[in-house]
Amino acid sequence: MRMSKKFDAFVTWASGIKVPINKKILDQMAAWSQGMNVKANRSALLSWRVLEVNSMFADRISDVPKSFIREILKVAISPNIISFAGGLPNRELFPVQELQTASNSVFEHSGQEALQYSNTEGYLPLREFISQRYKTIKGLNIEPKNILITTGSQQGLDLLGKTFLNEKDRVIIEKPGYLGAIQLFSIYKARFSPVLLENDGVNIQELTVASKLRNTKLMYTVPNFQNPTGITYTNEKREQIANVLRGKPLMLIEDDPYGDLRYSGTHQSSFMHYLPEQTILLGSFSKTVVPSFRTGWIVAPDEIMEKLIVAKQASDLHTNFFTQKLLAEYLQQNDLNEHISKIKTMYGRQCLAMIECIKRHFPKEVTYTLPEGGMFLWVTLPYGISAMDLFQKAIEKDVAFVPGDPFYTDLKESVSTLRLNFSCVDEATIEKGIARLGESINEYITEYKQKNLTV
Ligand SMILES: Cc1ncc(COP(=O)(O)O)c(C=O)c1O
Repeated sequence: MRMSKKFDAFVTWASGIKVPINKKILDQMAAWSQGMNVKANRSALLSWRVLEVNSMFADRISDVPKSFIREILKVAISPNIISFAGGLPNRELFPVQELQTASNSVFEHSGQEALQYSNTEGYLPLREFISQRYKTIKGLNIEPKNILITTGSQQGLDLLGKTFLNEKDRVIIEKPGYLGAIQLFSIYKARFSPVLLENDGVNIQELTVASKLRNTKLMYTVPNFQNPTGITYTNEKREQIANVLRGKPLMLIEDDPYGDLRYSGTHQSSFMHYLPEQTILLGSFSKTVVPSFRTGWIVAPDEIMEKLIVAKQASDLHTNFFTQKLLAEYLQQNDLNEHISKIKTMYGRQCLAMIECIKRHFPKEVTYTLPEGGMFLWVTLPYGISAMDLFQKAIEKDVAFVPGDPFYTDLKESVSTLRLNFSCVDEATIEKGIARLGESINEYITEYKQKNLTV
């Protein structure tokens, strides 16, 4: 909470009433309150202490709202609730046994080395594995020296923010965009240029305008199975985007944590093919192996890599070396493609089940994306229906989702879009949950129409 300039604190009385107050008066009150009852006295002093700290926070953190999804997940955590709100990989697919074997082997053969500090760039065999995989899967020539291991791809984003952004620099972002990126760039006090995300990628006219705005340094995209929409950019769109950005003094960040999880359609090329000199790639093992290892990476050209390494040194010296070794051992002992194909089979089935249920249970006016991979599907309700209000109604029927609101950086009013996650819910539960959500939507639309508003 930001304090008004005139006041140093708010006092919250035991009655719950909040009163703005300056420090001198508060000191005086604290002295007076020696004679008051203990509860009121403690209440006043506790509030003052908390709020005084609040007024000390840096602007960069005070202005950034709490993760909305985390707040929602707190509601959705009850065991009765069918939750499509999360964004977690399915834990049933975690290769627990294999990782245990790999872990034993690391302890046995290089325990002391694995438990020591290490270099900032990351464990070389792991970077070599990533380099080799880019070659075989995507036809990209990326040398290990251009790969920096990060603490999840989220840290990759953070390091890019640290490296590129001054206050008020502009970042082009998809509308709707990944919440973690919105939160992250907000910490660096960037200004957003949201560009409408269409079914085949961002709108080119809007991008052209945004790319010409002063101090635009970065464009952030999730071109494969985007979070939150599940949309994938077509090759044609990627090429058009590259044509718009080519030669401009800005970098394109291709964040691709879901790219390996394609269960239908055809592979689309990385922006590295179309705009190699201006593309930075972010990758992650969170969705293909396990998220708890917090192991991701950045691919960047030499001169940027130099700065990123300095930024990373200052952040955490290096990513957990034991888990890097363990992961490298696991990848050597096991076939990652085989493991990924199990994930794709499961998520593909869950996605299809959700789409079939939506067809059966949602009113026809509702539209939705048809993801070819990843973990999310995006729903658009008829105009005027607030996803936030629907959330309240759906919770009463024990079903949860994420309203679209937090995925926009230019929100003026409540939106009619929402995100559904299917990776953690089995097919029978998907049927039950989507039926309940369909009921909520139908009831809401009926109420809305009864209020004589057109939908
Ligand atoms: C688009 C996107 N980027 C980055 C991340 C962060 O992933 P990681 O676990 O690699 O930090 C996520 C996590 O869900 C994501 O959806």
